[in-house]
Parts: sequence; C-alpha cells; structure tokens
Amino acid sequence: MSKSEVTVSVIGAGYVGLTTAVLLAEAGYTTYIIDINQARLQKIKEGRSFFYEDGIDPLIAHAVENKKLIPTDSYDESIPHSQVVFSCVGTPDNPDGSSNLTYVFSAAEQAGKLLKPGAVFVQKSTVPVGTGARVEETFVKLKKNVAYVSNPEFLREGTAISDTLYFDRIVAGGNDKKAVEQVMDLYKTIERHRDKITERAGLKVPEHQKGQYITTNRNSAELIKVTANAFLALKISFANSIAKLSDHTDADVLEVMDAVGADRRIGRAFLNAGRGYGGGCFPKDVSGLIASANEHGVELPIMTAASDVNDSMPGYIAEKAQVALGGSLPGKKVAVLGLAFKAGTSDVRRSPGVHIANLLVKNGAAVSAYDPQANQEAREDLHQKVSLYENWQDAVKDTDAIFITTEWPEFSKVGAKELRKLMDGTVVVDAMNMLDKNSIREAGLTYIGVGRS
Ligand code: NAD
Ligand code: UGA
Repeated sequence: MSKSEVTVSVIGAGYVGLTTAVLLAEAGYTTYIIDINQARLQKIKEGRSFFYEDGIDPLIAHAVENKKLIPTDSYDESIPHSQVVFSCVGTPDNPDGSSNLTYVFSAAEQAGKLLKPGAVFVQKSTVPVGTGARVEETFVKLKKNVAYVSNPEFLREGTAISDTLYFDRIVAGGNDKKAVEQVMDLYKTIERHRDKITERAGLKVPEHQKGQYITTNRNSAELIKVTANAFLALKISFANSIAKLSDHTDADVLEVMDAVGADRRIGRAFLNAGRGYGGGCFPKDVSGLIASANEHGVELPIMTAASDVNDSMPGYIAEKAQVALGGSLPGKKVAVLGLAFKAGTSDVRRSPGVHIANLLVKNGAAVSAYDPQANQEAREDLHQKVSLYENWQDAVKDTDAIFITTEWPEFSKVGAKELRKLMDGTVVVDAMNMLDKNSIREAGLTYIGVGRS
C-alpha cells in the first residue's frame, strides 16, 4: 500500500503522541491526532505545541497547514478511516507505585469499537509486561479482527524530534508478523524523509549511527522498554551513591565517572551525579517495574535501592547547604535556578528543582526561583511562598545561597564574579555538577557540588 493510501491515528497528544504524529504527517501520512484535552488540541490547531520542545513547532505549523496533521477529539471522525492506530496515552503511577492503566484500556476500548477489519493497533505507551495480552482480549470480546503490536517509545524530552528521526533502535513485537512489518514500514518512511524534516524543524543533524529495527515477541517488547528505563535510572543512582562516598573521601565524582565511563563496557552516559532523576517517566517506570515484578512473585531489591537513593538526593543536597549556611534556614534567602526536570523542556513532572525549592521553604528559607522555560508550568507545583523571576540575575539578587538544579546552558555561563556581586552570601550549590568549581572558589564563593568535595 502506498503511503498516500495509509491513514494513521495517534491517540494522546502528549510528548510522545504529538511527536509521533507530527513526524508521520511530515513523512507524508495523513495523520489524525486525537485527544480529550481541548486546550492541547487548540494549540495544535494554532500550529504549536503545549510544551517547549526544540524544533516541534515549525513542523506542527507546516503539517497542520497542509492538512496532513488533523487534530480532533472525535474517535468517530478518525479511527474508522485509519489503517494503523497508535495509542500514546499516559500511564501514571497509582499511589502504591503500580502502573495506572485506566487511560490505556479506555483508549483501547473506544478505538476497538471503531477499528476497521485488518487494522493495526499499536501500543506506544509504556506498560507493564502482560498488558498487550489483556488489550488483545478486549478486541476479541469486541469480535474485532485486528492486529496488536507493542512498539515502545525511547525518545527523550528536549531532543524528542532528533531522537525519533535518528533513533538507536525501533522495537516492535506482536503475533501478527505482517502487522509488525507494517509498523516498521512507517518508521522506514520517516527515516527516508528525516534530513528534510530536520531542516524544516531548524535542527542540526545529530551525530548518529545506523539505527536498528528490532522485531521481538509482544511481551519482550513491553519488557524491553521498562528494562531500558530502569537500567538508566540504576546508573544514575549508582553514580549518586559513589558521589556520597566521594564527599567523604575528597575524591571528585566527575573525575571518577569520566575514567570509569571510559571503559567501553560501562560507558559514560547516565553517570552524572546530582540531585537525582525526575520527570514523567523514570520515577513511575521504576516503581511500575517493581510492582509488576511483585505481581509475578519476583522481588527486585536492586530497583528498590535505586529508587531509595534517588529519593534521598534532594534532602542530602539541601542538608549540605544548610550546614554551609550555619545550620538553619529561617531568615536565609535562597535562589533555585532550574525548575524543569531537565534542560530542553518545560516539563516539571516530578521535578527535583521544584522539590528542592519546596523543601527549602518548608525548612524556613525565603525562596526565589527561575527557569528559562518552565516558570509557568512550575507555578502549580511550587509552594505559594516561592517567588518566581523572569531572569536568573533578579532571582539571585541579595541571596545567601543559590542552587542550580537544571543543566540549562545559560546557567553554565553564569560568571562567578557577577554572582559574587549580586549575592549577599557566598554559598553556591551546584546540584548538577556543571560549574567550574575552581573559578567559583577563586571568586570568594563557597562551592558545594554533589560528590566534588
Ligand atoms: P502525556 O500525559 O503528555 O500525554 C498523554 C495524553 O493522552 C494527554 O494529552 C491526555 O489528555 C491524552 N489522553 C488520555 N486518555 C485519552 C483518551 N482516552 N483518548 C484520547 N486522549 C487521551 O504523556 P506522555 O509523556 O506523552 O507519555 C505517554 C506514554 O508514553 C506514557 O506511557 C509514557 O510513559 C510513555 N513515554 C513517554 C516519554 C516522554 O518522554 N514523555 C518517552 C517514552 C515513553
Ligand atoms: C528518559 C529516557 O532517557 C528515554 O529514553 C525514555 O524514552 C524516556 O525517559 C521515557 O520513557 O519517558 P527523559 O525522561 O526525557 O527520557 O529524560 P532523561 O534525559 O533520561 O533524564 C531523566 C532524568 O534523569 C532527568 O531528571 C535528568 O536530569 C536525570 N539524569 C540524567 C541524571 O540525574 N543524571 C544523568 O546522568 C542523566
């Protein structure tokens, strides 16, 4: 079937769904993007995204104008015409840490009723192993002759477009081999168009190697996704554990990890110690994996430890600063620079920066904060006593201490001498280990990193 004949629907216009949909549309497929959130749909109609992501807005504007990307809240308008339907709805955690699959099953049921015979339903949401089998049962109950493919997503926020175009691997698994191939073909078409799409997005072609297309069984595909995230989280918590030891031994964790990571069997990526991982995925995917393993009678103490180490980091860092400030925070003015859970996004889900700002307020400090992209999104999660500023200079003015909690490039350019002039006190907490500790110290400031005593 030629691509002009294939219509695709993507359910869920979030970080994953919108990225997937706009790239399919830019590769030539007529693509419906379905959501129940009218505010998100309205922004897409206006040619932009509800979140900050480098390169996505020009693509949305182009695809919407060409009528290749069609935003809608109607399953009736989209699903019956679609050969392939991607489900990209959220899978948050339940209070007990397990995965909340309410949206997954609701989307599958709504779409299932309308899928045409022979259509392919693709699960892109991150789900516990075994979920696909349950969704397939739903389709059987609905007497639908459709195929189910598990096709987990590996993009990172902040580099979502490049990650999808210049992927390491595309994983797809399912019982219907023809359906799996159909899904792979969509990605191969995107790959053929990727240089043109990159240019339209205003992005640079990243350094990349040829990506792999990996076909597995359905359950392996599901487990690959959560295993990859869990392993990355594990690396971060391992680095943070060694950072704590470095703090006690006058080693510098940056030097340690540079040398350890130079071993190609280990690799340097995701060994950056700091305030720990946040975001809409690692925390809930780690707890989801633990819960799913428990359901099968398997204990995963290694992941429980990774999660515990991560939870300890904001308090560990705040405590170090408190000691440097003389032992107590009431009466102290502190700035937090960085509210997004990482640089390159406006996403503040489970953001360590927000967590640290709220912790400092709770411990009695007067807290100012600034983020280049996430001020607005952070407001709801921040303690009402946190004052937001439009630039870092205003936020740090007259403070006793500052915390750098997101690795935005503009923070790496913060000059030590300028800081010294603007601040009242001297404590600089580099919770991302991104500053040059020697120049900070030379300016008469007190540098506190994570594992960089
Ligand atoms: P998100 O919360 O940003 O978006 C989900 C969207 O689905 C929301 O806009 C919501 O309104 C919509 N939705 C919910 N139920 C719906 C329904 N029945 N019909 C139509 N729309 C519905 O989520 P996200 O960050 O894009 O994540 C989606 C999934 O992808 C999750 O399972 C996540 O773990 C996984 N994932 C996310 C990332 C990432 O970087 N954010 C990367 C890889 C995988
Ligand atoms: C992560 C994975 O990297 C993606 O492959 C995956 O698709 C995605 O989760 C998902 O399933 O949602 P993302 O959450 O966008 O992507 O961001 P990362 O770059 O992985 O960072 C996650 C968190 O770890 C951030 O808070 C970051 O600051 C922190 N981090 C990362 C560290 O503390 N140290 C590191 O060395 C690397």
